[in-house]
Amino acid sequence: MDRRTFLKTGTAAAVITLAGRGPARAADAEIELSLGDLSAGAGTVISPHLYGHFIEHLGGVIYDGVWVGGNSSIPNVNGIRKQFIDDMKRIGAPNLRWPGGCFADGYHWRDGIGRSSSRPRTYNFWQRRMPAGTDATETNQFGIHEFMDLCHQIGAVPYVAANVGSGTPSEFHDWVAYCNAPAGTLSLADEGAANGEKQPFGISYWGVGNESWGCGGTMRPQEYATLYRKFVTQFPSYVEPFLVATGPRGHSADGDIGWTTGFFESMRGFDPPNGFSLHFYTDLRQNPLKGGEFKAAEWYEVLLRGARIEKVIEDHWAEMGKFDSAHRTKLVIDEWGVWYAPGSEIAPAYILSETITLRDAVHTGMTFDIFNRHAEKIAMANVAQSVNCIHSLFLAKGDKFVRTPVYHVFDLYRPHMGARQVALGNPAQEMNVSALAGPAKLPALSASASMRERRLAVTLTNPSLDTDMAVRIRIPNGANAKEARGTILTHHDVLAGNSFRDPEEVRLAAHAIRAGGDSISLNLPKHSVLLVEAEIG
Ligand code: AHR
Repeated sequence: MDRRTFLKTGTAAAVITLAGRGPARAADAEIELSLGDLSAGAGTVISPHLYGHFIEHLGGVIYDGVWVGGNSSIPNVNGIRKQFIDDMKRIGAPNLRWPGGCFADGYHWRDGIGRSSSRPRTYNFWQRRMPAGTDATETNQFGIHEFMDLCHQIGAVPYVAANVGSGTPSEFHDWVAYCNAPAGTLSLADEGAANGEKQPFGISYWGVGNESWGCGGTMRPQEYATLYRKFVTQFPSYVEPFLVATGPRGHSADGDIGWTTGFFESMRGFDPPNGFSLHFYTDLRQNPLKGGEFKAAEWYEVLLRGARIEKVIEDHWAEMGKFDSAHRTKLVIDEWGVWYAPGSEIAPAYILSETITLRDAVHTGMTFDIFNRHAEKIAMANVAQSVNCIHSLFLAKGDKFVRTPVYHVFDLYRPHMGARQVALGNPAQEMNVSALAGPAKLPALSASASMRERRLAVTLTNPSLDTDMAVRIRIPNGANAKEARGTILTHHDVLAGNSFRDPEEVRLAAHAIRAGGDSISLNLPKHSVLLVEAEIG
């Protein structure tokens, strides 16, 4: 689609008013921070794991996106694409989920160990989605040792999804023992050592299946709960595990609350899992327009549907609380992102790769603000997926590699990782927008805040296609903001993205803000994501 066409259509279709806007004020939105007693460590710590990752044996994710092989002319470290390692390190990628996704429930870990030339070629679940004439045969060149090497090189914590759908409890337990038992104890541990595992991998995070209601076994929650118990009861406990049970398809029309009820009802009287997986895709697959082609209605549709994740988190958390008021089980949102109709793949066999634009960056900012504000409920979140699939930070093909606008939002939100959540009052009005199903209301401003020692970070997203917003952030308790600075991600063209040809089209830039006494004032441009950092004295 022609970009000028978008702008014309956009202005006509998006009739935006700030609902309830009163008489002219110095700011369109005043954000009141609630710093609490910082010396007493108020505020939940925002786990770095909320900014987590996911890679699957699917299309061009592992093979090419991550693994290029040791003999490749593409710069690599032990066969892993160097640029991927460097950029993941740069954003402090805290964890990495692998090997799927749907692939996990057909994966047998033994196929991916031992001499690479002796590893078998096996069936890949995603073959069914491959275009005619293309082959997804799994070569097993990337197995658990290569995955752990990648995690070590990035500094990421591994999160491994086990095969429940077509595997057995004993296959799972053997894998855990192979990874975690010290050499000289079990024969499995010696085998791991012979294959190069000098020290036990010490993997804590284990997913017990994936989407067990769908590709992971088409089970009912009661059936899955029974299997879950079988899979975890004899778990070889060398490392304190963090076990994640399969949770709902959160983007279903009804939020799939029935899965949560059914699972926890069936778990009454048994040890609850540490984590409960929630998948939430902003699912535009039924819309004919591809990732890089949209009008105003699709822009707002993505943001409206994306914002639904907040209610889905709250609803499932409340449901879980009915069975466990102490909330021993936390949410693990281990797949999230915007999923478009096929058609913008970087190559036919790179299925599910999408054109990523500023729209996806704005969606990411809003999603992270929601995660930050609900940090006490969420143990981990993993974008689907880090490279060459759905909501990617990177696109890679052969010697070509690019960081998408989504990458820059991960970079922008880094100050929140491991910082303490700061509650904020956000009285910004809702705005009226025209989305696919007609008129709707969208919060006119997304925000979240955190403190690390005396350093404040506030992130703000303005989803409007037409209207800049004057924002004032009020610092309470007689404190002052000093040395404030702003960093912004925006572009005059909302269709803009980064391509192999123009890798720097959408990038971070400095943004002027004014800090004086107890407030910070700024102009938040339309369709932008902004980080405000200040020293609080
Ligand atoms: O991320 C792509 C797929 O989406 C995953 O394999 C599956 O878990 C989900 O349906």
